[in-house]
Amino acid sequence: MCGIIGYNGKQNAIPIVINGLKNLEYRGYDSAGIAYFLGNDFKIIKEKGRISSLEEILEDDEPTLCIGHTRWATHGKPSRINSHPHQVGDITIVHNGIIENYASLKEELMKEGYKFQSETDTEVAAAVIDSLYKKTKDKLLTLEKLNEVLKGSYALLILFKDEKDTIYALREGSPLIVASNETGNFVASDIPAILEYTKNYYLLEHGEIAIIKKDKVTFIKDKKEITKELLTFKFDISSAKKEGYPHYMLKEIHEQPEVIKNFIEHYLTNFNLIPDISKYEKIHIVACGSAYHAGLIGSFLIEEYGNMEVSTYVASEYRYKKNFLNEKTLVILISQSGETADTIASLRLAKEQKATTIGIVNVVGSTIAREVDEVIYINAGCEIAVATTKAYTLQVLTFSLIAYKLGLKKGIITKEKQKEIEEGYKLLPSEISKVLKVDYKKYAARIATKKNVFFIGRLIDYCICEEGSLKLKEISYIHSETYPAGELKHGTISLIEKNTPVIAVITDSKIAEKTISNIKEVKARGAYTLVVKRKDIPLHEDTFDDLIEVEGLSDLVLSIVTIIPLQMLAYEVANILGYDIDKPRNLAKSVTVE
Ligand code: AGP
Ligand code: GLU
Repeated sequence: MCGIIGYNGKQNAIPIVINGLKNLEYRGYDSAGIAYFLGNDFKIIKEKGRISSLEEILEDDEPTLCIGHTRWATHGKPSRINSHPHQVGDITIVHNGIIENYASLKEELMKEGYKFQSETDTEVAAAVIDSLYKKTKDKLLTLEKLNEVLKGSYALLILFKDEKDTIYALREGSPLIVASNETGNFVASDIPAILEYTKNYYLLEHGEIAIIKKDKVTFIKDKKEITKELLTFKFDISSAKKEGYPHYMLKEIHEQPEVIKNFIEHYLTNFNLIPDISKYEKIHIVACGSAYHAGLIGSFLIEEYGNMEVSTYVASEYRYKKNFLNEKTLVILISQSGETADTIASLRLAKEQKATTIGIVNVVGSTIAREVDEVIYINAGCEIAVATTKAYTLQVLTFSLIAYKLGLKKGIITKEKQKEIEEGYKLLPSEISKVLKVDYKKYAARIATKKNVFFIGRLIDYCICEEGSLKLKEISYIHSETYPAGELKHGTISLIEKNTPVIAVITDSKIAEKTISNIKEVKARGAYTLVVKRKDIPLHEDTFDDLIEVEGLSDLVLSIVTIIPLQMLAYEVANILGYDIDKPRNLAKSVTVE
C-alpha cells in the first residue's frame, strides 16, 4: 500500500502535502513525490528514498493545489522513475493499489502510440485515463468508465491539464477520505494525514467521485451529485503523534494498559455488542500476520471455553484453498487496517458462499469493517508503527470476550470460574503495567548479536511464540523461528549450538513439564535459554539462564500479559541494532496489495 494526499485551498499546498506524507509514511516509504501546476504545465518533483530525500529537492513554488505520494512498490523497483506522481499526456496521477490487468492494457495503449517511462502499473492507469478522456472529452464519463477498464484495486488522485483548479479523486478497493477546514480541502489515504487540520472527514465509497475545488467538494455517484455523512475521528491528535516517546511502537506498547482498560469497560458494560457465536456449526478465523496469530489464540480460547471446534487460516491461503462454507459457517476476519487485500478477498469469498462474517477491525469505516455482516471495533486508536502491538492485544481480547460469552451461554463457565475471569479482566491493565516496568535491555543485549533465535512453546504458548517471533523478525531483522516445543527433536534441534538463544514460553500448567523437558534438551546443547512463564509454575533455576515471570491471571487474558515481554524484547533488540523501528525495511503498515 502507499500514502496519498492532496490539498486544494488558500494556503501554500506544498508544506501541507509534505507534512501529510510524513504522517502517512508508515503506509510505505521507498520513494515519494508531489505534483502541482506551474504556469501552463504540471510540475512533478519525485525521488527514491524517504520523504526527507524529496524535501531536499523541493523548489520555492507556492501552489495552492498539490498532490503527493509515498510509495510501497509493487510493480517496478523503488526508483525515481517508478515513483509517483506519473504523468501521461494531459493527465497526472498518484495511485494506491494494484492494476491487475496492467500488462494487457499496456500492450493496447502502446498500439495507440503511448510510450512508457516506468515499469509501474500506475503509469498504465494514467495512460488509460488520458486515452479515455481524449476520446470522451468528458471527465466524469472517463472516470466512471475506469472501473470497467481497470481490474484490481486503486485509490487515485487525478489532475487534468485543462482544469488547473481541481483535484479529482476516486477509489476501488484502496481507501480514501475527504476533509475540509477553513483554509481549503483535503483528500488522503488515511486520517493521520489530515488530523492536525480537522477531525471531520468523509469516507469516499466505491464508485464515488470527489471533485475537489479550493472552496467546494462535490461528490458524484452514477452521474448524480450526492450528499455524504460527515464522520468525526474520535481520538485526539496525540494518538497519531509520538508524545515524547522515541518511537511510535514504544508509545503504542505503553498505551496498552489504557486502551485495554477502555475496551474491557466498554464491552463488559455493553456485553450485547459481543456476538453470540453458539448457533454456528463451523467457525473459521481468517487473517494475516499478527492478526492471524491473534486468531490462533482466539481458536484456543473458543475451543477451551465454548467447546466448539475452530479452524484458523492465513488469508492468502484461505482464499485459494478448496472450501466447504455454507450458511451455517461463521467466518471471523481480523484486520487492524481493514484494508489487507488477502483478508478482503477471503471475506468476499465467505460472503459468496453464504457464510456469516464478523470483522474484528481497528480502522473505522475501512473496507472490511463495511463489508462484514457484523463488525467489532477494537478502538485501539491510530496505530502508526508498522509492527502492531496494541491492535494485536485488543484483537486477542476480543476473542477472549467472545469465548467468555460462549462459555456463559453454554453453561461451561461456572459461577466460581466466572469470578476468576472477571477478576482477570479487572487486573489485566495493571498486570501489563507491571511487566512493562521490567528492564528488557539486558535480555536484548544477549540476543542482539545473534543471527538466529528460536521460540518454543506448546499449545497456546506456541501461538504466543509465533507473535513474539514475528515482532523480533520484523524490526530487528534477526532470523527467528517458532517451534512447537515437542517438535524440536524432530530435526531443528540440530541447529542448536553454544549460545543459540531459545526463548521458551510456559503459561499452560497442563503441559509445563513437557516444555521444561524441551528447555533442558536445548540447554544441554549449549543454548542460551530465556524463559517467560506464569509465576506459579515451578521451574528449577538450572533450567534457565534468564527468567521473566507474569502473574497467573485467568487464561482468558494470560496470553495478553505474556506477549508484552516479547514485544519489549523485540523493541529493545532493534533499538540496540539502531534500525528504524517504526518503519522497518521492505514493510508497510497495511498490505493492500496481494
Ligand atoms: C504485524 O506486526 C505486521 N505489521 C503484519 O503482520 C500485520 O499484522 C498484517 O499485515 C495484517 O495487517 P492487518 O491487521 O491490517 O490486516
Ligand atoms: N502499484 C503501484 C506501484 O507499484 C502503487 C503501489 C502503492 O500502492 O504504493 O507504484
